[in-house]
Amino acid sequence: MANKTVTLTDNTTGKSIELPVMQGSVGPEVIDIRSVYKELGMFTYDPGFASTAACSSDITYIDGDKGTLLYRGYPIEELAEHSSYLEASYLLWYGALPNAEQYAEFVDKVKRHTMIHEGLKDFYAGFHRDAHPMAIMVGIVGSLSAFYHDSLDVWDARHREISAYRVFAKLPTIAAWAYRYSQGQPFVYPRNDLEHSENFLHMMFAFPSEEYTVSPVAKRALDLILMLHADHEQNASTSTVRLAGSTLANPFAAISAGVAALWGPSHGGASEAVVNMLETIGTVDQIPKYIEKAQDKDDTFRLMGFGHRVYKNFDPRAKLIRTACYEVLEELKVEDPMFDLAMALEERALKDEYFIKRKLYPNVDFYSGVIFRALGIPKNMFTVVFTIGRSIGWLSQWNEMLQDDEFRIGRPRQRYTGPVSRPYVPIEKR
Ligand code: CMC
Repeated sequence: MANKTVTLTDNTTGKSIELPVMQGSVGPEVIDIRSVYKELGMFTYDPGFASTAACSSDITYIDGDKGTLLYRGYPIEELAEHSSYLEASYLLWYGALPNAEQYAEFVDKVKRHTMIHEGLKDFYAGFHRDAHPMAIMVGIVGSLSAFYHDSLDVWDARHREISAYRVFAKLPTIAAWAYRYSQGQPFVYPRNDLEHSENFLHMMFAFPSEEYTVSPVAKRALDLILMLHADHEQNASTSTVRLAGSTLANPFAAISAGVAALWGPSHGGASEAVVNMLETIGTVDQIPKYIEKAQDKDDTFRLMGFGHRVYKNFDPRAKLIRTACYEVLEELKVEDPMFDLAMALEERALKDEYFIKRKLYPNVDFYSGVIFRALGIPKNMFTVVFTIGRSIGWLSQWNEMLQDDEFRIGRPRQRYTGPVSRPYVPIEKR
């Protein structure tokens, strides 16, 4: 069978070009438009990249209509049931599940990179006490390149791996310390006898003056949240990491660009925005008012935690987190009226014509705040926890990009709509 093509015709000149159609292993076919500018002298236009595949990737697959999410081919539901965040991280970075020996070696290596340079501690003091922890994250992650510059050759696989371990293992420490600084509390050093999520909770909540034991329920719940956030193909922050990394910027610089992009309420900032919204809504009787506001085109209010560029069905991560909410609240014996409010809001929105027509379903951020609250994680740390989870996705995608035969600097074009060739007017004549 001949290779499939799509014909593109300029109906003013009659010139046609044949565009090859590329296949993925699953998912929509992809029209290769690379020759369009050369052959027709035109660009393609796709604000927000709704129809544009910017790269090929082996890492994560989403079927937005079915609500499917695969990490390296493994369904997220199976990983959530049987695996752990660190095992899923190994899978994302190395491409296959580890055997017992590989896993033990991986865990050991991660543990040996959890400490951060003592000089970095002084950086925290430069931030205002009331700084948002994401602001501190952007700053400290970016400054890692000033401390760990012995392995920054992005063309060297070993250097990439060392830098990846550094980012991945140090992020929980950096994040917990951002919180400790905001509270005026002493920094708690990582403990290598603890598991990854347990260690983070320990650094968040322990005091040097007394014993602190992390609840196994909290540890498990956080591990699940980290796993569900680990990668999500070419989302805004991952694309930002790829774009920054495509200039051959060092990995710490590229990852800090991703942290900045994640912060926005349309992306990773949504979990904090959901809780703010639920606090504003306050009671179940106020729900209709806010459902109405969300539909009003003259109102900037949106139902946070609802809708997704790719999912036109339930976000599978939201389903898993919702189930986990029930378990965590029950096991920790927490009664949170906010969870009941969220449930009532979800029920109301899912019956509403506006949300049905636009296929707006709860996304991962709709319920994560409820779990965070039960674990005692403050609102302004929600996106920080997302950052810890997503770090492995960013690193894996960056690593893949640099090994791609078709790698080029990312450089979008534009449709220029500004003035054309105006003569300069001296200031006294304006
Ligand atoms: N509340 C009310 N209306 C909405 C919402 C919402 N949350 N989301 C989308 N819409 C409407 C939107 O107004 C538009 O309506 P119309 O067709 O009449 O103009 C239609 O649905 C399509 O929306 P869009 O803005 O074109 O969709 P998008 O793919 O550009 O944006 C989104 C996706 C996630 C930014 C958006 O749904 C949103 O702002 N959601 C709330 C923020 C949120 O929960 N973000 C977390 C995303 S999941 C975690 C992550 O990946 O970081």
